[in-house]
Amino acid sequence: MLRAAKNALQVEYAIRDVVLPAREMEKQGIEILKLNIGDPCAYDFDTPQHIKDALIDAVQKGKNGYSPSEGIPELRDAIVAREKRRNNVAYTPEDVCVTTGVTESLQMLYASVLEPGDEVLVPGPSYPPYTSLAKLYHSRAISYRTKEESGWQPDVDDLRKRITPRTKIISLINPNNPTGSVWGRRVLEGIAGLAGEYGKQLFLVSDEIYDEMTFDVKHNATASLAKDIPIVTFNGLSKIYLAPGWRIGWTLFRDHNGALADVRKAYMNQARLRLCASTIAQHGAVAALNGPQDHVPKVVAKLKARRDLAHKRLNEIPGVSCARPDGAFYAFPKINALEEPGAPWRNDKEFVLDVLREAHVLMVHGSGFDSTFGNNHFRVVILPPEEEPIALGDA
Ligand SMILES: Cc1ncc(COP(=O)(O)O)c(C=O)c1O
Repeated sequence: MLRAAKNALQVEYAIRDVVLPAREMEKQGIEILKLNIGDPCAYDFDTPQHIKDALIDAVQKGKNGYSPSEGIPELRDAIVAREKRRNNVAYTPEDVCVTTGVTESLQMLYASVLEPGDEVLVPGPSYPPYTSLAKLYHSRAISYRTKEESGWQPDVDDLRKRITPRTKIISLINPNNPTGSVWGRRVLEGIAGLAGEYGKQLFLVSDEIYDEMTFDVKHNATASLAKDIPIVTFNGLSKIYLAPGWRIGWTLFRDHNGALADVRKAYMNQARLRLCASTIAQHGAVAALNGPQDHVPKVVAKLKARRDLAHKRLNEIPGVSCARPDGAFYAFPKINALEEPGAPWRNDKEFVLDVLREAHVLMVHGSGFDSTFGNNHFRVVILPPEEEPIALGDA
């Protein structure tokens, strides 16, 4: 047998890993309620019609060829305009690179920056690729604590303690997955101040893919608060624009003093290597950003009602407690029962697999998002309709 790369063999993705036992059960004719899928289109949300029409129109008009590696000019302009409109941050189109989703944005950024042995600070718990992709590049993701007792806000003192001479990136995910936490302005300023102390050694990465999905709390773009710090921001079509399968994301470089010049060059080298993001989907994205936004408050209102119900019902379950998520579409309850003597499960994965076997409900174990700070929890999506949960997807 040929030997595969060790790091690639070890890469894990908890969200999809739990799907395998569920698929086995489905093969036996058992219907599974999937509360594991972070895809609004798997439930009763659909891509707005004008966005779909723009993609179809691009196909019909023969825009089916390759496009510039950094993205079509209309989309880069639309992204710049959105940042100005929403966050009052001024970018130029040269600061933007369109990608095949934020996951590719992250992969290309890590590949541009990380040397073996380097370290990336990631929120604990957080979206698994921040940790797994670091491993792929022979680097280490070190998680910093987010505090359940204060709605999963980052602990800036804990973050400070984890910075070493090998730290290259401090990543922020706001709102965060899996906790649904929306980070406060003071905390963001604290992290930015900390990054400022480390000059050109490190920079911030801010994943804001859920920025429009907040319930009665304001989301602050990190770049709008940390004006003199190098920041790379990620966003895309997968969440509020309801088109995750189109695979469109983007990377924004904010680099007031040229600290990121080399990184940007390496990034663009890679962008050229993988040719381009889907051309037709980019045309759809232009309509998404420049067209009507009236679906946004409707989606948020629907999610808020579902958040309220899920939060209430989860807290009614004996042995479970749940901090209120203020954004995104997840709840991250604690399985208090696991800490009691004689608990029927040894860990959160056993709990999740037991719920799957007994109740035919699929969720994701918290330790899959962080083996320390996510332990003894589970992630459940709040996307399904209150009265009739459905999940069609396979993610
Ligand atoms: C924080 C976060 N970033 C990025 C993504 C994926 O984004 P994309 O579909 O653009 O790759 C997700 C998906 O769940 C996410 O939760």
